[in-house]
Amino acid sequence: MSYSDSTKKLVLITGAANGIGLATARKLASSGHDLFILDKDEAPLEAAVAELSALGAKTKSLVLDLSKSDQIIPALDAALAGAVVDQLINNAGVGFARNVESTSFDEWDLTIDINLKAVFVMCKYFVPKMVAAGGGEIVNVASAASIIGLKNRVAYCASKAGVAGLTRAICADHAAEGIRINAIAPGTVDSTWIAKILADAPDPVATRKLMEARQLDGRMGTPEEVANGIAFLLSPEGRFVNGSLFVMDAGLTAV
Ligand SMILES: NC(=O)c1ccc[n+]([C@@H]2O[C@H](COP(=O)([O-])OP(=O)(O)OC[C@H]3O[C@@H](n4cnc5c(N)ncnc54)[C@H](O)[C@@H]3O)[C@@H](O)[C@H]2O)c1
Repeated sequence: MSYSDSTKKLVLITGAANGIGLATARKLASSGHDLFILDKDEAPLEAAVAELSALGAKTKSLVLDLSKSDQIIPALDAALAGAVVDQLINNAGVGFARNVESTSFDEWDLTIDINLKAVFVMCKYFVPKMVAAGGGEIVNVASAASIIGLKNRVAYCASKAGVAGLTRAICADHAAEGIRINAIAPGTVDSTWIAKILADAPDPVATRKLMEARQLDGRMGTPEEVANGIAFLLSPEGRFVNGSLFVMDAGLTAV
């Protein structure tokens, strides 16, 4: 069975206003699924709602800052109003270019709150509901930084390694109850995030070349390529994959 043949699902995607989240939303909308998209930035989120609705997906949205952990569950309760989410993609993330000495306590807390604690809170909220409904699928967007140390990315690497561990632990506890939870580990992906990093770099052309060279095919991945991986992990075709860190990095972490 191909993904597009699978039953229509309601899929919640965090950080869906840009980049990998938006590309994934487009792919799932084109495959006939309904969407619940969440982001901190209202204007691009509402633009995404219009675009995804035009693709035929019933699309609801929620403006929410995932760094405010205590607001997540009340906001979901109010916005979902009893709607049953079948599949969850924890995609929103942030990063600061800092080493251990230059990372401030605030930057550390913000990175861990968004990249790791919010994933925990979302899973804490949705896993029992999915178990009660007979099962569900979750993809957590981790990173090559879950596996290797990247220079000047201390809090980011720690948070993404945590996402891989959280994913495995939830799999261990809930696979027998029908939960399929995987993390995906992209290499460098040409998203709005990278565009911002390049815009701030002293030499954007040289920085882009260095970022491209990290992948063994000498280019960055596209958000659409990662969306394909996420869609596979959610699909019936991915049903033998559980608790994995699914690497999509053109060999970055292989050497
Ligand atoms: N781009 C890459 O090279 C790359 C590589 C590996 C992993 N990732 C991961 O992929 C995920 C998506 O990254 P992207 O490259 O598409 O980035 P992006 O910046 O293009 O998109 C991230 C989205 O998350 C949203 N977001 C950020 N903080 C939020 C918060 N506090 N609350 C709610 N929403 C918030 C942003 O508004 C944005 O729409 C992230 O988890 C990132 O760590 C990216």
